[in-house]
Amino acid sequence: MKITFIGGGNMGQAMLSAVLNKGLTTPENITVSDKNSARLKQLKQDFDVYISGNNLEAIARGDIIILAVKPQNLDEVMNEIGRQIKPEQLVLSIIAGKSIASLRRGLKHDAIVRAMPNTPAQIGQGMTVWTATDEITEGQKTTVGSILGAMGKEVYVTNESYIDMATAISGSGPAYVFLFMESLIDAAVEIGLPPEMARELALHTVTGAAEYARRSDKGLAQLKQTVTSPGGTTAEALKVFERRDFSRLVKKAVAAAYRRAKELGG
Ligand SMILES: NC(=O)c1ccc[n+]([C@@H]2O[C@H](COP(=O)([O-])OP(=O)(O)OC[C@H]3O[C@@H](n4cnc5c(N)ncnc54)[C@H](OP(=O)(O)O)[C@@H]3O)[C@@H](O)[C@H]2O)c1
Repeated sequence: MKITFIGGGNMGQAMLSAVLNKGLTTPENITVSDKNSARLKQLKQDFDVYISGNNLEAIARGDIIILAVKPQNLDEVMNEIGRQIKPEQLVLSIIAGKSIASLRRGLKHDAIVRAMPNTPAQIGQGMTVWTATDEITEGQKTTVGSILGAMGKEVYVTNESYIDMATAISGSGPAYVFLFMESLIDAAVEIGLPPEMARELALHTVTGAAEYARRSDKGLAQLKQTVTSPGGTTAEALKVFERRDFSRLVKKAVAAAYRRAKELGG
């Protein structure tokens, strides 16, 4: 499988590292094109992939072309490679907020996959939601599923609007969790725990609770209940969260992210 990356930054590197780790392809079948020559040199050194500073040369080398530049660089890339992609080549975009319609228009190409991964993909714990145009064959969908699955969990959807919704949940979600962990660490330090210990307790509590919830056959409300004895410490803390309507705050934050995802998509 020949894969070309246009953009070899954080996400591009996470994807190429994942497909190589899973043995889905070999370094000589991967081409990375990027504006940043220092970045390219580093990728060559770390992964021994073919590097190029020329997007047109790069797309000619791939069966699958992965667009992994920032949203603000997409137009210049589309102006360069639009009309140059062969019908049998597959374009996979991970660019936030860029709709299939705008990619189709800009690239003059129909076989398109739009995916929304998240940063834990960098350690193989990503969550990616993706969709594809009708021109993508079942065989190509299986291939795309294996590429995205190399970065963690992948979920295919037929409705593109789910991608914008997923952007507000799993795409931006790691930042919400980081914010919560940061606050928990600050609070731990404020009541007297040493910072290193505060960090260890907060991080392990979040990962442990998430894994416990995933493996348990109980619902989240029930799991919460099992930690909460009447008149106990958890009950006191939850009362504070409820008084300030934590749940409503989360809903407002997600709604703002979703609104922005739709705005960006035009
Ligand atoms: N990070 C996330 O959580 C996340 C999650 C889901 C999706 N995404 C999407 O993933 C995409 C990439 O994000 P990232 O964090 O990996 O960005 P990044 O680290 O900035 O990587 C993008 C790379 O593309 C290069 N580039 C810019 N213009 C180019 C051009 N015309 N041709 C070739 N290469 C070009 C950049 O070089 P310069 O630095 O020199 O400009 C940079 O090395 C974004 O569209 C984002 O929406 C990110």
